[in-house]
Amino acid sequence: MTVPQQEKGHRWFAALYDRIGGRAEQHFGKTVRPRLMGEVRGRVLEIGAGTGASFAHYPPEAQVVATEPDPFMLERARRRLAELGASHIELHQAPAEQLPFENASFDHVVSSLVLCTVPDLPRALAEARRILKPEGTFRFWEHVRNDESRFWGGVQDVITPVWRWVGAGCHPNRRTQQAIEEAGFRIEWVERVRLAPGTPGIYGVARPG
Ligand SMILES: C[S@@+](CC[C@H](N)C(=O)[O-])C[C@H]1O[C@@H](n2cnc3c(N)ncnc32)[C@H](O)[C@@H]1O
Repeated sequence: MTVPQQEKGHRWFAALYDRIGGRAEQHFGKTVRPRLMGEVRGRVLEIGAGTGASFAHYPPEAQVVATEPDPFMLERARRRLAELGASHIELHQAPAEQLPFENASFDHVVSSLVLCTVPDLPRALAEARRILKPEGTFRFWEHVRNDESRFWGGVQDVITPVWRWVGAGCHPNRRTQQAIEEAGFRIEWVERVRLAPGTPGIYGVARPG
């Protein structure tokens, strides 16, 4: 399978990404990322690592494989790794829907603000499940559709076509928690936060059910 747009990449989105997400990162990155990534040990796979916002949060005891399909994001992630001097993290170019790893070969899979963007969400989640050990964890941080407000949910539905175009494939209206459960994961815990007006975020841990 090929994912042509991701392999071609989004040069400008990659260049602006850290600035666009800067405020949210300051606010939530400091609380959410340490909780999701700070306690992992063993073999960890991160999908859609972007510019590497998570890298500083992984403990040196973890052996992290970070994947990312977009060459422009990958380049920035490479630079961030060099700055951090993080020898426990390696980078691979790969889409979440087609991970070049063996079944049951990772203790944890991390997805941070990625499931909104992957073109084939069920397939990406099936891949995460395939490469996770049965006792492993799936650790997620995502913005999701607002199902508590008809108004905001409707706004998200209406703006999705334009948002996808501007946001390098991002869907503001995905029901990601349901998708995780439908993929056969059992939610161990989940926290809900308000990311922006009308925009809920979820973060938590799920296990293969
Ligand atoms: C909003 S950014 C999040 C980056 C990073 N995970 C973070 O927390 O800052 C979304 C990322 O998903 C990546 N992405 C897009 N399609 C993907 C796919 N099919 N598989 C994996 N990652 C993908 C994008 O290239 C981008 O780096």
